[in-house]
Amino acid sequence: MAGETAAQPRQAPIIIGISGSSGAALARRAVEALGELGMPMHITYTQACRQVWPDEVGRTIADDLSDWKARYNVRVFNPDDFRAPMSSGSFRTAGMLVIPCSMRTVSAIAHGASSNLLERAADVIIKEQRRLVIVPRETPLSAIHLENLLALARMGVRIAPPMPQFYLRPQTADEMIDLMARRALATLGIEEALPDSSRWRANEE
Ligand SMILES: Cc1cc2nc3c(=O)[nH]c(=O)nc-3n(C[C@H](O)[C@H](O)[C@H](O)COP(=O)(O)O)c2cc1C
Repeated sequence: MAGETAAQPRQAPIIIGISGSSGAALARRAVEALGELGMPMHITYTQACRQVWPDEVGRTIADDLSDWKARYNVRVFNPDDFRAPMSSGSFRTAGMLVIPCSMRTVSAIAHGASSNLLERAADVIIKEQRRLVIVPRETPLSAIHLENLLALARMGVRIAPPMPQFYLRPQTADEMIDLMARRALATLGIEEALPDSSRWRANEE
């Protein structure tokens, strides 16, 4: 009875940042995969992703956010909520995934310009030397994009572009998206997100 909750260390949440680049499906799969693993998440997003969501998903991000809150261990924070726990370095987290990451957000994170909660959370992760994985989405990449990504990589940020795993022979677009989202989670250290065949191949490398 005693110790049921009070004495048990609470699992630190993973921060998910969703920006306004193409790739809403990747964010959805990452959240679903973490939710299915029972992992706690703190999610934030940018204003721009409100525009992308209906175009790519056919519903609003608000609809998805409320579904996730109902189904998974998820807390959602508005882009301008700088009082959210993820704004502070003293709040323990299990790292952060920015998926998908626009080139604007890449630039803001690379230069420490924290004008929304996603950027502030990434700034905190970098200063606390925790794990930050960015899934950038743009093509072709300009010298500006590449220089910003290089600056982040040199700070220890892991850059994980959504590259299809052709070697796993995905048969559908959904399968391809699922594999790319799971690969990003594995880059964050959540190896259990990988399907068995993919884990086996990763061990071979
Ligand atoms: C449908 C749609 C798709 C977009 N795709 C991309 C993209 O793939 N990469 C990118 O960097 N920006 C993309 N943009 C532009 C960004 O939304 C825009 O640069 C915005 O300022 C990003 O803001 P954020 O970084 O705060 O999310 C897209 C915009 C729309 C409406």
